[in-house]
Formats: sequence, structure tokens, C-alpha cells
Amino acid sequence: MHTRVFLIGFMGSGKSTLGSKLARLIGYQFSDMDQLIEETAEMSVPSIFSEHGEEVFRKWEHDILTELCLHEKLVIATGGGAPCHSKMMDLMNAHGTTIYIHLPPEALRDRLIRSKTERPLIKGKSESDLLDFIKALLEKREFFYKQAKHIVEGINLRSEDLAELLMDS
Ligand code: S3P
Repeated sequence: MHTRVFLIGFMGSGKSTLGSKLARLIGYQFSDMDQLIEETAEMSVPSIFSEHGEEVFRKWEHDILTELCLHEKLVIATGGGAPCHSKMMDLMNAHGTTIYIHLPPEALRDRLIRSKTERPLIKGKSESDLLDFIKALLEKREFFYKQAKHIVEGINLRSEDLAELLMDS
């Protein structure tokens, strides 16, 4: 089993929830990139976007990812945009196992509507705008997401399923 496991996928695909459970199951540490960025910057992700802009956020994301690649026995929940910027997908594939948690746009919309996490990219969107936005962005992002070593269906996905996948690979 590879020493670093990167969970990738769109906002709301369950990377953080599944990642922390998976880490516990396989005895790895869990890291959440957004949380690490927030701790390092001492600012929330929405504040980073509003005060510094997305480009700065992506640079900090890249810095955090580079740092994480120096550590071992880690499950990492990445931000939804990370694989699509600054060659981060290549970096992850070079340093670990990548798993894309795939969900259809409608399921992502439903989850994002229910989610309590504030996400700057979707702030203030109506339900129908949100679905169009997800479809358009997912179409662009899947070019990167599909470079993952494994692609799994996210509906009813359990951390045990991910652990099994890692044992078999
Ligand atoms: C983003 C996803 C968020 C966070 C930021 C940008 C994106 O993480 O990194 O709001 O570009 O898709 P989650 O995927 O954990 O929501």
C-alpha cells in the first residue's frame, strides 16, 4: 500500500469525512488541506478568497501539498480545485495513490445545499444556478480528476470500501 493516499473530487464529494475514517481504519494520519491552509494563514478559506484572491489561495494550496509530500503514512483530503491547478495532479500521482470520488452533478448539488461549510465559489448561487455551475466546472475538472489511479463511485461509498481498494492495489 502506498504511503500517501490523496482523495480528490468536487466540493461536497465526501473527501474529508471518508478520509478521516479511512485514516483511522488503516492506521495513517489524516490531513485536510483546507484546514491546514486555514491554520497556517490564520484565516478561513472564504476570507483568503475575499482578501487575497483565488490565485494566492492556489499558491498556498500548492505549498501545503508540497510539504505534505514529505510526510509518510498519510491520508489527505484535497480541496476540490487542487488537482486542477499548478500541476498538483502530477505531484500527487508522483507521490502517492490518488482516488477520485465521483458523484453525479445532482448529488453534488444536493449535498452542497445541505452542507454547512462556507464555500466561496458557490456562495449566493440559487439551486438552479448551482446545478449549472457544477455541471460546467465538473466538465472542466474531470480532465484532471480522471488522471487519478482509482475512480470510485461516491454514492453509498464507505471508508471500508476504500481500505479494501488500497489493500488490493
Ligand atoms: C474549492 C474547494 C474547497 C476549497 C475552496 C475551493 C474548489 O474545498 O478548497 O473553497 O475550488 O473546488 P472542498 O472541496 O473541500 O469543498
